[in-house]
Amino acid sequence: MSPESFAFIAGLVKSRSGLVLTPDKGYMLETRLGPLLKRDGLASLDALATRLRDPRSAPLAEAVTEALTTNESSFFRDGKPFDHLRKVLPALARARPVGATLRIWSAACSTGQEAYSIAMLLQEISLDGRRAEIIGTDIAESVVARAREGFFTQFEVQRGLPARLLVKHFRQEDGRWRASPELRGMARFERGNLLGDLRSFGRFDVIFCRNVLIYFDAPTKSRVLNALAAQLQPDGVLYLGGAETVLGLTERLVPVAGERGAYERPRDTALAG
Ligand SMILES: C[S@@+](CC[C@H](N)C(=O)[O-])C[C@H]1O[C@@H](n2cnc3c(N)ncnc32)[C@H](O)[C@@H]1O
Repeated sequence: MSPESFAFIAGLVKSRSGLVLTPDKGYMLETRLGPLLKRDGLASLDALATRLRDPRSAPLAEAVTEALTTNESSFFRDGKPFDHLRKVLPALARARPVGATLRIWSAACSTGQEAYSIAMLLQEISLDGRRAEIIGTDIAESVVARAREGFFTQFEVQRGLPARLLVKHFRQEDGRWRASPELRGMARFERGNLLGDLRSFGRFDVIFCRNVLIYFDAPTKSRVLNALAAQLQPDGVLYLGGAETVLGLTERLVPVAGERGAYERPRDTALAG
C-alpha cells in the first residue's frame, strides 16, 4: 500500500471515529480489511483507497471504520469500578425522588459485557424505590447487534464472570451462553458515535466510557470528555479505563478522591447544574 493510500484511509477513519492509525499499523489494515477487499472485489488497499475517494462510498467508509475498531471486552473488567458503583448507587438513588429512574450509560459498550455486568450488579442492591435503566452504545453496528442478542461464547463467560452469576443469569442456547430475558430487558443497545452530538442521549447519573479514549489523540480525548461531562448529572460518576485519565484534558471532570478510574464534576460546576 502506498503511503498516500495509508494516509487517506487513516484520515478517513480518524474523522469518522477518532481512532488514530499510526503508520506502523499497516499490517493491521491488511489483516482487518482483507475480508472487505474480498467482498467488494478490490485487488489491494490502494484500490480500496481509490474507491473510498468516491463520495458515494459512505457505506464502505463506515464498514472500513467498523472493521478497524478493537472490540475487546470482558465481564466486570478491572473489578474496581464495579465495587465503587455498588457503593455509590444506593446514595445516588437516595438523592433522587422515589419513583425516579437512574440512568446508566455504557458508552463504547462493545459486545455488552459491561452493560450486563452493571445489570447483574443492580440485581443485588436496593435502590429504595427508584428504578434504573442501562443504555449501551457503540459506533460499530455488529457489536451493538451482538450485545442486544446477549449471546456469549464459553471463552467470553470465563473472562470475569463468577460461576454463581453465570448460572443465575445465563442459559445455554445453541452451544453458547445467552443472558436471561430479564437481564436483557434491563439494558437497551443502540448505535452511538462519541464524536456525534451526545445531547440526544440525555443526562446520565453514571457513565462508563472505558478503554476507548486510548485510541484517540489528545484533542479528541478532550472533546469527548467535555461532551461526556455535559451529559453527566452534577452528582454523577464517570468511569474511565485503567490507562485513561482526565488530567490535562478537561477541567470539567476531576478524579474522585481515592478511587482510581472514577471521575466527577468539580464542585463549583456541579453546583451550577
Ligand atoms: C476496547 S472496546 C471497550 C469495551 C468496553 N468499554 C470495555 O472497556 O470492556 C472499545 C470500543 O469502542 C468502540 N468505539 C471506537 N470508537 C468509537 C466512537 N467514536 N464512538 C463510540 N464507540 C467507539 C469500538 O467499536 C469498541 O467496541
